[in-house]
Amino acid sequence: MTSIIVIGSVNLDIVASADRLPGPGETVTGAELSRFPGGKGANQALAAAKLGAEVSLLAHVGNDADANDALALLRAGGVDLSGCKAVEHAATGVALIAVASSGENQIVVAPGANRTLSPDSLSIPAADALLCQLEVPTETIAHAAASFDGFFCVNLAPARHVDVAVLQRADLVIVNETESAWYGDSLAACKGMIATTFGAAGAVLSQDGVDIARTKPPRVEAVDTTAAGDTFCAALTVALVEGQSPGDALAFACAAGAATATRQGAQPSLPGREEVLALLG
Ligand code: RIB
Repeated sequence: MTSIIVIGSVNLDIVASADRLPGPGETVTGAELSRFPGGKGANQALAAAKLGAEVSLLAHVGNDADANDALALLRAGGVDLSGCKAVEHAATGVALIAVASSGENQIVVAPGANRTLSPDSLSIPAADALLCQLEVPTETIAHAAASFDGFFCVNLAPARHVDVAVLQRADLVIVNETESAWYGDSLAACKGMIATTFGAAGAVLSQDGVDIARTKPPRVEAVDTTAAGDTFCAALTVALVEGQSPGDALAFACAAGAATATRQGAQPSLPGREEVLALLG
């Protein structure tokens, strides 16, 4: 079984589902309120486990009630949480999410305990792959990139400055089109593959400036796109490390992301492997 370490965030998502998203300074009323386990790190960890990998999550939560809710589906999904610590003096991360009936969202994160995941608080076990995002301190990601020996994937979300050594070390960098524009020419430092996602329009995998795979996701009815990108990251990493070809791996990842968008919430919407394979036909 493919073994994957995820270093990243755990959040409790407070979700308001409304007809549409507000503009700056605008109030939209009539929303329904829900709470879901989320956080890019936690979502990617659970997504990889549901797709068949053996997953350990290295993360920080607060010593509070929100941590139980935020970790519930990871526990139920068999993710190893022995490297997930409850810290004092910081609350479990919270994401405030507005979701429109079109499935689009807006997210504001209060990182809380995720900010305390410093390089010296980590002990990174050996595994086939390491998967990181940028909702924890970027020094931690730089440390992880330098100390891990296997396949290293970094999802540059949310867009923030990262050490160039992280880009140079990564076997796989994943960005959406907004993040790709934010990083611009600095992505030229990447020596491995770059996957760029375009929502319902699909994704492209490139290396050294040359496209090596391009795919469109299966058509689905999007209800909530939260965690669709996280599922894509987990699925692409799992598939490449399993030895699937770049084209097959990209198609698998796009189908997994599309399946996630058909259900509400972050972690409750993550698909199992059978569902993704069925979507691929
Ligand atoms: O990528 C989706 C995630 O971003 C949400 O679950 C939220 O917690 C934010 O971290």
